[in-house]
Amino acid sequence: MRVPGGGGARGSPEFSLCGPLPSRAERLLNATHPDVKRTAAVTWLPVSEHFRVHGGARLVGEVGVAGAKNSVLKLMAASLLAEGTTTITNCPEILDVPLMADVLRSLGCSVEIEGATTTVTTPPEISHEAVSVYMSRLRASVCVLGPLVARCRRAVVTLPGGDAIGSRPLDMHQSGLRQLGADSHIEHGAVVAEAENLHGAQIWLDFPSVGATENILMASVLADGTTVIDNAAREPEIVDLCVMLQQMGAKIEGAGTSTLTVHGVASLEPVHHQVIGDRIVAATWAFAAAATRGDVTVHGVDPNNVNLVLEKLRAAGAEISSSAESFRVVMGSRPSAVDYVTLPFPGFPTDLQPMALALSAVADGTSMITENLFESRFRFIEELVRMGADARTDGHHAVVRGQERLSSAPVWASDIRAGVGLVLAGLCADGVTEVWDVFHIDRGYPEFVEQLRELGAEIERVAD
Ligand code: UD1
Repeated sequence: MRVPGGGGARGSPEFSLCGPLPSRAERLLNATHPDVKRTAAVTWLPVSEHFRVHGGARLVGEVGVAGAKNSVLKLMAASLLAEGTTTITNCPEILDVPLMADVLRSLGCSVEIEGATTTVTTPPEISHEAVSVYMSRLRASVCVLGPLVARCRRAVVTLPGGDAIGSRPLDMHQSGLRQLGADSHIEHGAVVAEAENLHGAQIWLDFPSVGATENILMASVLADGTTVIDNAAREPEIVDLCVMLQQMGAKIEGAGTSTLTVHGVASLEPVHHQVIGDRIVAATWAFAAAATRGDVTVHGVDPNNVNLVLEKLRAAGAEISSSAESFRVVMGSRPSAVDYVTLPFPGFPTDLQPMALALSAVADGTSMITENLFESRFRFIEELVRMGADARTDGHHAVVRGQERLSSAPVWASDIRAGVGLVLAGLCADGVTEVWDVFHIDRGYPEFVEQLRELGAEIERVAD
């Protein structure tokens, strides 16, 4: 069993990021992101890569998942809230971690990444201007907004980038900050927020946005008085953030419910914190097992965080068993078609929609997939159709008529999850599927190729 994050290969002499030797994630930053600009802190090699996926293998074995991408980046942002050294363990060795580290360095922090451990040292005074070139590379960079407003009472934060999955406005983030007493507007490509004082408020979110909940939460922990966030997001990564903030001294009630109550405190202390396992990566392995009619045991995640996914796979015909930190998916025959509707947690995660589409493409019967969060996520279907899938969309619904087998083709990853969905489809296709633009996959899946190989897949990473 390979457990990522347990200490990556190191020692290439040509890299000069912080610390004596680069971690695997830092090497990824150097090696697979051809269009990032050279900065004082980073050197990079312009290498782009694709995967060659041979169809037909049945995935069998055990696999471990590292910490959650959508948690670690927010925890790193939270370290801005306390002067001193915060240590975060079980970090995934993915590209987004060194990108976020660069964002924090641009604010005055020193950050070291040693395998699965990230240490952030936050000085007494931090810059309020988050304008690192990497801000526009990842969505989670916007999560420095709340901490900066809390610490500096002002913030200038370059509008974030991230996956091309549809419009991602910040109106709820800004509205929440305004209610806490900060003026906020967009200026020259950045969110600007300024407050004389932050004070508690009753805030109702229009929608349980993950990012808005996180920013408002991180601003309110150092505000005067009590803040109540209603219709808050309930994702396990929000709970993880609440747990770390509570360890730091924040007074938060209701973590994991749709009402968060925060009693502001004067200051917070740095802590050691372990990131929760990545439920999206774990569920990806579950889909991979089901799609290849395999038998895969996944370790390192709380099965309660993937309950609905496992129920869907059970409905598709899989045998599922689970224990405290692992689960097993066995699919003995062709999966049956099931329907999926993406919703905020505990609903079916939008991040798994491409995997659900890939499974539906080879299932017995017709599936309806409804996307309620990101309108452009169905772009993935164009690539799936190249592989012979019988799929069509109508608004935010997709109908997929399953076929026994797909047919290999060159396909392009448009975001992290779409890229992985294409690899899953490639495993169920005749011949060799080439998946291009795999730097997207490297942003979210540590040692993906290596883990697939250990499960019996035939897949190669090829430098162009
Ligand atoms: C996070 C995750 C992403 C996941 C998504 C939903 C990270 C880095 N990314 O993204 O992987 O797919 O949650 O589970 O954690 N919205 C607004 N106004 C706002 C904020 C959001 O209209 O101010 C809308 C968005 O356009 C989207 C919906 O709310 O339609 C959900 O977005 P949100 O929960 O905020 O997702 P992110 O935090 O961006």
